[in-house]
Amino acid sequence: MTAPTSSTDVARASRLEGELRLPGDKSISHRALMLALLATGESTIRGAGDGADVRSTAGIVMALGGEVRRSAAPAGNADYDVRSDGAPRQPAGILACANSGTSLRLFAGILAGHPVRAVLDGDASLRGRPMARIIEPLRSMGATVEGSDADSHPPLTVTGRSPLRAIDWSTPVPSAQVKSAILLAGLRAEGVTTVRESVATRDHTERMLRARGIPVRTERGEGGGTVIRIEGGAAMQARDEQVPGDPSAAAFWLVAGAIHPAAELRLRDVGVNPTRRAVIDLLVRMGASIEETPVSDPLTEGEPIADLVARSSDLTALELSPAETAAAIDEIPILCLAATQASGRTVIRGAGELRHKESDRIAGIVDGLRALGARIESRGDDIVVDGPTALRGAVVDSHGDHRLALTFAIAGLVADGHTTIGDAASVSVSYPTFFDDLERIRS
Ligand code: S3P
Repeated sequence: MTAPTSSTDVARASRLEGELRLPGDKSISHRALMLALLATGESTIRGAGDGADVRSTAGIVMALGGEVRRSAAPAGNADYDVRSDGAPRQPAGILACANSGTSLRLFAGILAGHPVRAVLDGDASLRGRPMARIIEPLRSMGATVEGSDADSHPPLTVTGRSPLRAIDWSTPVPSAQVKSAILLAGLRAEGVTTVRESVATRDHTERMLRARGIPVRTERGEGGGTVIRIEGGAAMQARDEQVPGDPSAAAFWLVAGAIHPAAELRLRDVGVNPTRRAVIDLLVRMGASIEETPVSDPLTEGEPIADLVARSSDLTALELSPAETAAAIDEIPILCLAATQASGRTVIRGAGELRHKESDRIAGIVDGLRALGARIESRGDDIVVDGPTALRGAVVDSHGDHRLALTFAIAGLVADGHTTIGDAASVSVSYPTFFDDLERIRS
């Protein structure tokens, strides 16, 4: 495996062609490991993503008493066998989440309902990310949760309480991590815990809890949102999981295929869960040629999957509403790149949450794509892109953010000359084999 350490150079490709299998879905991999810790017995997870974020979660499962065996799987993925007695044990040291917000927020929810005291910490990026959004509901449920810096940043010290109080909580910003933290705490609450969200966020936690015998109901809320209810006290059943390819990783190749003039990229076994597929539908609305063939696999029955083929396309600009932006939140950087090659003005409304990801992604994408010659700017919480613009290679900074590094690497495949990406090693957070895949499909 190539492991770029500092700057990485990507030259314009004359052709993009080939078939790829993607990293196992990061969101599902985290949850499969966490739920394996909460189930009694042995769980097998096949095809989990092997990026640094999922490895952080596996490390924490071990620190909390899970017996974890990891082995290499095809496409740079990992298989896991996890044995657990169903309850997290008091950890000996700090629980290291590194760059992973999903590890930190979801484990905070898990630990809130167990008789342990644990410190969750992360790297400089994670220490800068907002945590009041999980601290407040978990405190309302009766757990003691303390952060640093006016109580809203990691490290977080969680002192669990059993049982917790059930709450009825409306999430202030659409966030699957916040929803999941509350639902995982709700497993240990007396009665029914309710989470209301104004825009439906990814629903893997709900699907995976149901598949493990936990009573979780989802109803339509007012104005397009959802209401999720979980009944506390049920026992988690161990279950085997086959993790689908990550649609957020697929998005990079879908855009590469669409914007490169000589491209045909085939992506196998991609997760197309309705709460994750917005990027595919938005690209198709922009005119991208994406062929989708559903795949039936009994092992991934809980999550729909498909093979996708992306071919060179003429794109047109699009306006995204705040709800559409929220539905494609992890794919906004790569959609901005697509917009630089689309005719007309693309407006991405209500993207403010991007400032609170692994880096300030609005600043990072605007600076990086501008350095490559794009016409892009931020206006408050909106991003405005005028296209099409011929990109030219330059030096760009990914700010240690995997989704920015991946976006700039794809930009390098269509920009004239060479694009040099600072801090490209961050791709290993979600897609450690990315540069190997890139070499395989380019000429
Ligand atoms: C994730 C939820 C999203 C997403 C992140 C993964 C998850 O974060 O950006 O990459 O697995 O639940 P938010 O909940 O902060 O929107």
